[in-house]
Amino acid sequence: QKRQPIVAIDGPAGAGKSTVTRRVAHELGLLYLDTGAMYRAVTWLVMNSDLALDDEGAIALLIKDVEIQLTSPNAVDLPTVVHIDDKEVTTAIRTPEVTANVSAIAAQAAVRGKLVQMQQQWGEKGGIIAEGRDIGTNVFPNAELKVFMTASVEERARRRWQDLQNQGRDDIDLQQLAQDIQRRDELDSNRAIAPLKKADDAIELITDDLTIDEVIAKIIELYQQTI
Ligand code: CDP
Ligand code: CDP
Repeated sequence: QKRQPIVAIDGPAGAGKSTVTRRVAHELGLLYLDTGAMYRAVTWLVMNSDLALDDEGAIALLIKDVEIQLTSPNAVDLPTVVHIDDKEVTTAIRTPEVTANVSAIAAQAAVRGKLVQMQQQWGEKGGIIAEGRDIGTNVFPNAELKVFMTASVEERARRRWQDLQNQGRDDIDLQQLAQDIQRRDELDSNRAIAPLKKADDAIELITDDLTIDEVIAKIIELYQQTI
């Protein structure tokens, strides 16, 4: 029997992937898979161990039998609830400290091997929309629909700055935030294994001048044309 459809959403930080993908999942009745949350959870685990961030061999052993659980809350705009080895890390994985270290951890072969295997297992039956950096190129190369969402670094930084402002973080410098985002994009785009890159058969969506609702409508339209 043929599996259910798979949708792959990739792109750099602040493009709108999470916000849009969660709502599209809800509208289309697909499972939502936030792969960034998995790399963040492993980064949190390493930072809370006594290992150095670049000790690839020891990190490989640390995560050999790691368990990661992702649960979508009922409210569509809330982030995925994340457990790693039974510890709840939903908010802990969103700190600036984890954000600053995640690209270094996500570049490691053992980490990617482990997490990609989990993602492919969860997506085996299809009926899933996954967002990340390498979904269309590497995790689900046979996805029926691939979207590469992007926007200028200035716009993406402005969005993140507004998010932080709304959370009461009024101490964040917009220029610094733009630099941090650019640095993370460069690390993600230039790593050796499964770098951030538009798949050849992905549809590029530039979201600078689109509202969230417009992006959602566009993806649903593409899905209905494809499936
Ligand atoms: O939400 P935000 O754009 O800040 O990041 P995220 O989607 O939570 O991803 C955090 C980091 O995980 C990225 O900067 C990548 O280093 C890594 N990542 C990855 O390497 N491959 C994926 N499929 C998803 C995330
Ligand atoms: O997951 P990713 O890092 O790609 O981005 P996000 O966290 O979903 O989006 C970052 C912020 O941009 C959110 O507050 C969205 O509401 C906002 N956004 C927007 O203002 N306009 C869009 N077209 C898309 C997202």
